[in-house]
Amino acid sequence: MEYIVINGQKRLQGKVSISGAKNAAVAIIPAALVSGGICVLDNVPYIEDVVSLTKALESLGAVCEFRDNNTLMIDATNVNSCILDEKHAKSTRASYYFMGALLARFGKVEIPIPGGCEIGTRPMGYHLKGFEALGAICNQEHGIVTLEAKNGLKGANIYLDSPSVGATINIMIAAVFADGTTIIENCAREPHVVDTANFLNKLGAKITGAGTDAIRIKGQKSLKGSEYTIIPDQIEAGTYMIAAAITGGDVVIDNIIPKHMESLTSKLREIGVEITEALESIRVHVKTPLKGCDIKTAVYPGFPTDLQPQMATLLCTGTTGSIITENIFENRYRYVGELRRLGATLKLDSRSLIINGNFKLTGATVEASDLRAGAALVIAGLAAEGKTMISGVEHIDRGYENLEKKLCDLGADVRREIRND
Ligand code: EPU
Repeated sequence: MEYIVINGQKRLQGKVSISGAKNAAVAIIPAALVSGGICVLDNVPYIEDVVSLTKALESLGAVCEFRDNNTLMIDATNVNSCILDEKHAKSTRASYYFMGALLARFGKVEIPIPGGCEIGTRPMGYHLKGFEALGAICNQEHGIVTLEAKNGLKGANIYLDSPSVGATINIMIAAVFADGTTIIENCAREPHVVDTANFLNKLGAKITGAGTDAIRIKGQKSLKGSEYTIIPDQIEAGTYMIAAAITGGDVVIDNIIPKHMESLTSKLREIGVEITEALESIRVHVKTPLKGCDIKTAVYPGFPTDLQPQMATLLCTGTTGSIITENIFENRYRYVGELRRLGATLKLDSRSLIINGNFKLTGATVEASDLRAGAALVIAGLAAEGKTMISGVEHIDRGYENLEKKLCDLGADVRREIRND
């Protein structure tokens, strides 16, 4: 079994460079299919979810080549299949973007329901409703979704019942060749939605309104290959900001877009962290003991659910109590039992987590149940007295590039260990 092993209570100091955004990369890589040609992507994070998607693309007939760890060439010219097999569909939740991309390119697709982190029920009704509005016939049997638009896709007005990231991006990709104009209303505004729209526009798509609650896509006859640089990862940046804060550190988080961090920056300031923003970096500096605060997760620009576990961990060490309310995924508290093993006494009440604060965390052996739960446990281990051993490392590898190296460069004592247990 593989573990991340942390000897805690080392103050983080220095500068960390943030990788490209996972949730933008995992949309843009399948979306490259609609180019029908060669795309070169820069600032691609070299993480397991990205590797899984390149393998899925190759299984469809594309050629993918990492020119260095962070530059990915995708040649989608000879893609000749619209059927994704079970292994590739289950390897990451983001394989759902092959629905939109293959539907756009071939007018049909067959794909098993995707896998991914178990943080809630994660339905796909909005995606399928959107594809149907564009003219696709949808069938679901034995866990396999089949979509077909025999007469091609036609632009439509689509209203999402709630602003789903996946549905917004998937429908936007599907609509790039649809005849006429598609409007997605009540759509998600996350930075990775905007980044995917910018990428598609670079290929020649006509998408406006990304970043607002209504996106318009004017269908085009064809698109071309292009180069594109992926934005920095908002959640990775936030994870290092919180890691710096919990160790009482002084860290510059570099290669980021500070505007994407506003909901976190505001909460960190509220609890007493000193934050200094520059054009492409944020300095996190802790000089006094930190207080608690209340947090409600929300869609962008609200506080991201993907930083909720990490922030809850920081708040365990606050001098006053906090209440967290998780509004996006009902099962995103699976790390709570593990934090209890490290010494926190936490009370769960439906969607709320009540944290009394002032917990002194002590090292223990814990298990990461999903990606961000894993990040939270790493943060807890950095603050804990003694040794923390975290299993379930494969979840963390899905979304964090060079985690141990980045932390060690900041002064943490972190290593990976394989044990025969
Ligand atoms: N929802 C529906 N029906 C749908 C789609 C969504 O009811 O058809 C609901 C969900 O149940 C949830 C809410 O809408 O309550 C939001 O879900 P959304 O569709 O926005 O999430 P997602 O596309 O499945 C993406 C990210 C997640 C991130 C969420 C929220 C990717 C690949 N995944 O998931 O990232 O938590 O948006 O921002 O982009 C992570 O990186 O750790 C992660 C889980």
